[in-house]
Amino acid sequence: MKTQSKLTKITALLLAVLLVFSLASCSQPGAKSSSQSKTETKQTESGTSEKTAKETAKSDKNSNDTIVLYFSATGTTKGVAQKIASVTKAEIYEIVPEQKYTDADLDWNDENSRTTIEQNDSSVRPKIAGKKLSLDGYKTVYIGYPIWWGEEPRIMDTFVESYDFSGKTVIPFCTSGGSGIGSSGSNLEKNAGSGKWLEGERLSDSSDIEGWVDSLK
Ligand SMILES: Cc1cc2nc3c(=O)[nH]c(=O)nc-3n(C[C@H](O)[C@H](O)[C@H](O)COP(=O)(O)O)c2cc1C
Repeated sequence: MKTQSKLTKITALLLAVLLVFSLASCSQPGAKSSSQSKTETKQTESGTSEKTAKETAKSDKNSNDTIVLYFSATGTTKGVAQKIASVTKAEIYEIVPEQKYTDADLDWNDENSRTTIEQNDSSVRPKIAGKKLSLDGYKTVYIGYPIWWGEEPRIMDTFVESYDFSGKTVIPFCTSGGSGIGSSGSNLEKNAGSGKWLEGERLSDSSDIEGWVDSLK
């Protein structure tokens, strides 16, 4: 009798230990899988000037022949670019200015701010940070930017003038406070001098990006 109750106690103890272990190994609702957090780390890193352009472009997502290139001073275009990259399973690459735009630089009320001066002179070509990206192998290139004074930021002209888009389809997109894409897409096409450029689109956080991407096919 004594031995039997001892055995019951040991069995209960073993079951309790097993329960604790199995609960501890279960993932918690808010926890991220290692692959999730890996992707997030890479996304945070993407576009930083410390990484080479190639590393950045190959940073995440499934490799295919589509790439989303974007410049974003305050994050709006970046958000849209990430959605396009997610929908198209494309690589993503941030165009980072060698000299970052400060809040003062972005002040459109100041006629002497850096952006006002740059946008008033269509020959200005702000420098881009990092190594030159290779566009070899990409057939479709989305290219995004904010509208500044109704046009593309001059750094976008620096970018398109540095690449050969021959044999590629180029799709401009922009974000803005309300203005349309205007002549920015055709300005870029003219300055690039190569590639098959589609008509661009103004997009926002709430745009139907999947629908827009589908409409291009
Ligand atoms: C210097 C400057 C000029 C701008 N000019 C315009 C403009 O002409 N029309 C417009 O609708 N929005 C204009 N905006 C607003 C931006 O286009 C808008 O906030 C954009 O989504 C910012 O994108 P980003 O966060 O990727 O930099 C301007 C913003 C700045 C900083």
